[in-house]
Amino acid sequence: MCKHFGVDSHGSSVDITKAREVLPTNVKPTHYDLTLEPDFGTFKYKGTVVIDLDVNDDSTSIALNTTDLEIHSATVSSGQQTIADKPTLSHDEDKQTTTVAFDGTLSKGSKAQLTLTFTGTLNDNMAGFYRSSFKDGNGETTWMATTQMEPTDARRAFPCFDEPALKAEFTVTLIADEKMTCLSNMDVASEKTVESTITSGLNRKAVTFNKTPLMSTYLLAFIIGELNYIETKAFRVPVRVYAPKDRDIEHGRFSVELAAKTLDFYEKTFDSEFPLPKMDMVAIPDFSAGAMENWGLVTYRVVDVLIDEKVSGAAVKQRVAETVQHELAHQWFGNLVTMDFWDGLWLNEGFATWMSWYSCNVFYPDWKVWEGYVTDNLSSALSLDSLRSSHPIEVPVQRADEINQIFDAISYSKGSCVLRMISKYLGEEVFMEGVRRYLKKHAYGNTQTGDLWAALADASGKDVEKVMDIWTKKVGFPVVTVTEKPESNSIHVKQNRFLRTADVKPEEDETLWPVFLGLRSKDGVDENLTLASREADFEVKDLEFFKLNADHTSLYRTSYSPERLEKLGVAAKNGLMTVEDRAGMIADAGSLASSGYQKTSGILSLLDGFKTEPNFVVWQEISSRIAVLRSAWMFEEPAVKEALKKFQLDLSKDKAHELGWTFSEKDGHIEQQFKALMYGTAGVANDETIVKATFDMFEKFKAGDKTAIHPNLRGSAYAILLTHGGKEEYEVILHEALHANTSDERNSALRSLGRAKDPELIQRTLALSISEDVKGQDIYLPISALRTHPEGINALWKWVKDNWEELERRLPPSLSMLSSVVSITTSSFTHQEHIDDIQKFFSTKSTKGFDKALAQSCDAISAKAAWIKRDSEDVKAWLKKHGYLQ
Ligand code: BES
Ligand code: ZN
Repeated sequence: MCKHFGVDSHGSSVDITKAREVLPTNVKPTHYDLTLEPDFGTFKYKGTVVIDLDVNDDSTSIALNTTDLEIHSATVSSGQQTIADKPTLSHDEDKQTTTVAFDGTLSKGSKAQLTLTFTGTLNDNMAGFYRSSFKDGNGETTWMATTQMEPTDARRAFPCFDEPALKAEFTVTLIADEKMTCLSNMDVASEKTVESTITSGLNRKAVTFNKTPLMSTYLLAFIIGELNYIETKAFRVPVRVYAPKDRDIEHGRFSVELAAKTLDFYEKTFDSEFPLPKMDMVAIPDFSAGAMENWGLVTYRVVDVLIDEKVSGAAVKQRVAETVQHELAHQWFGNLVTMDFWDGLWLNEGFATWMSWYSCNVFYPDWKVWEGYVTDNLSSALSLDSLRSSHPIEVPVQRADEINQIFDAISYSKGSCVLRMISKYLGEEVFMEGVRRYLKKHAYGNTQTGDLWAALADASGKDVEKVMDIWTKKVGFPVVTVTEKPESNSIHVKQNRFLRTADVKPEEDETLWPVFLGLRSKDGVDENLTLASREADFEVKDLEFFKLNADHTSLYRTSYSPERLEKLGVAAKNGLMTVEDRAGMIADAGSLASSGYQKTSGILSLLDGFKTEPNFVVWQEISSRIAVLRSAWMFEEPAVKEALKKFQLDLSKDKAHELGWTFSEKDGHIEQQFKALMYGTAGVANDETIVKATFDMFEKFKAGDKTAIHPNLRGSAYAILLTHGGKEEYEVILHEALHANTSDERNSALRSLGRAKDPELIQRTLALSISEDVKGQDIYLPISALRTHPEGINALWKWVKDNWEELERRLPPSLSMLSSVVSITTSSFTHQEHIDDIQKFFSTKSTKGFDKALAQSCDAISAKAAWIKRDSEDVKAWLKKHGYLQ
């Protein structure tokens, strides 16, 4: 494997492998025999692990990872010989390692065994081996134990060599009460009755699972709990969904059936058999992420796997499908073939993201998911990557608190965009052939990014590394400026680094990306043009209509002259552009306006011309562009804000009324979401008919008729009710948030509470988020909507400052939640003095675990501040000219 070089944000090369903080390589684990017995009375568990080792160098010590574990005994042996029965143990808390040192020597080339006994805590931080709970039929709390190892918490569960490249086989034994279901990555090998290692005289069952294939520690999982399951035999091996006994297990039906179909599809597409004897998917009541791809035992947040189609809308169903297909893609990409260290995380997450869209499109062609890709992943990627504080896809990471922070839009969204780009360039069939070769060659092994490029090159005969390398190694993406040369029937295109703050320094503008131009004209798309230099001319036979970046399959923004943009607006109406082209063009124009490459009045005029646009995705982009503008103007003059709201209403109301907000069986998946979107966009902009209709629905809803507010409308209806209503509406929605039957229903209520502006209600929302009533995993839900008004934003930030110690304690930096909370509570500000205040507050605090989020917030604020300064008058003038402002 070749050495890989990444770059820092200024573009100079650094060796990304250098930063890695890794264990010594004198020994290598080959097999773990792990036995664990939890005690739900004390939340402690006892464990024994026997690790088989290959000795690579003569050794007098063994270092491995441990965190928050109490080690009671250690022995080192080699064959029949005991090398040490009382070795010296030393723990390095900072590096999260324990070193076992002994007098004897393990000689190079021999095999050794390290046996450790230990006690750990079933913690309530959703990391390592942790506790989760639900209420049984009598309202009694019932405990279960489960795991979340990725990225670096396997060491919190048991002593191990916790690096993705140190793959080993695992034999797991769980000891638990008879009534408990015990699950692990593999199927059960044997079950016997044993005496508890905790309570003498007590008999329990010891469940031993079959030995796993060679795998990384972060993919290990075990669960003990009172669970129900449903099963399907539609796949070669059994597929089950498990849920705590308090849930209606039938809500797992959609996921279990989809999982079976998806596994079958992936086996065929990858030409690689799923190697495990079963696939279990489990809903966990307390879960920090959305889902986790543990091999053969995928764990999920409840809302991401269980769905009651009677009470959940189309968007929720799509999210469940996406999540299931994402985690199942990891069974190959990540689990079978694994990145060799966390700096290659994008190989896992970028691929699983791309693959989930690819397979969703196969199973649900009527959902047209690729059309929405532009407003979803492409938009998130370009948004984060337009900040100076972004990072390259391949980024050096050293420590746990850094690793957690790269599970972000760069690894997921930019990563998947890069794959979408290359898959279009090579053709999806050729791309998939490359993927098959990659999986075959590296099965049960570890890879770097270059290995993927090599397999794609092998399949395509093209120099893939040459065109892709820069995209993963350099931060950012270009803005491509087009000038027209009618005299020579050509266009001149020039690329520069794009920064949202529009203040690129020359030393930040040195990267030259290979830009696939994707030139669309009346004759179709020319896929063969690449801009490989700073600037060049390209022939365009008919300048009447042309557009770059057809379908927005590449990662760049295009800047046209205002005249050309107007012509494109007309071309859009005349059916010359695809949905992706229309949505992407609006996104580019909006983003260029907010960063000063164009005037904001230009995008306002462009949007104004889209009133009759027939497509859902394009409307999503239109709505989000107005939302971005309105939130940047959050702290500006009330009259201007009111005028912007009127513009939003004027733009959206006709479409909203045309579509209506009632649903029938006939409505397709997209139509349902389209109605919901327009109802919400016009409704929160005070469309009188919609507001009145919503209060009418609410009357019935309040009286107990839950069907009065359709699931597709819930979120927007709550927003309208809380914006226009008061305490009464708040109480009803709060009751929903705490007592509704399904997690999804509770979440939509919880997510909207922050809309209420009354100071007393704001305080209640804040208090609720850290109360016993809201699970730690959901802390971000109640606070989110506070960002929709200045009163909320100010109160939120004050609350963070007043409660910082508590938040730090409840959300340790190793969980990315503290980082999310920092981002949610700071990024909505819009002026320099806000940045000063934020920086002042954190100047005396450790920002470990959220320094990236904080820098990104400050960058985002300063971009908004500059935008307002630049275009405040321009926006006012446009609003006046169009009658929205006196
Ligand atoms: N591997 C991740 C889960 C994860 C995230 C572990 C962060 C550790 C830190 C999993 O495959 C994942 O990406 N889950 C997503 C869901 C998906 C549909 C994008 C999630 O949790 O949101
Ligand atoms: Zn993932």
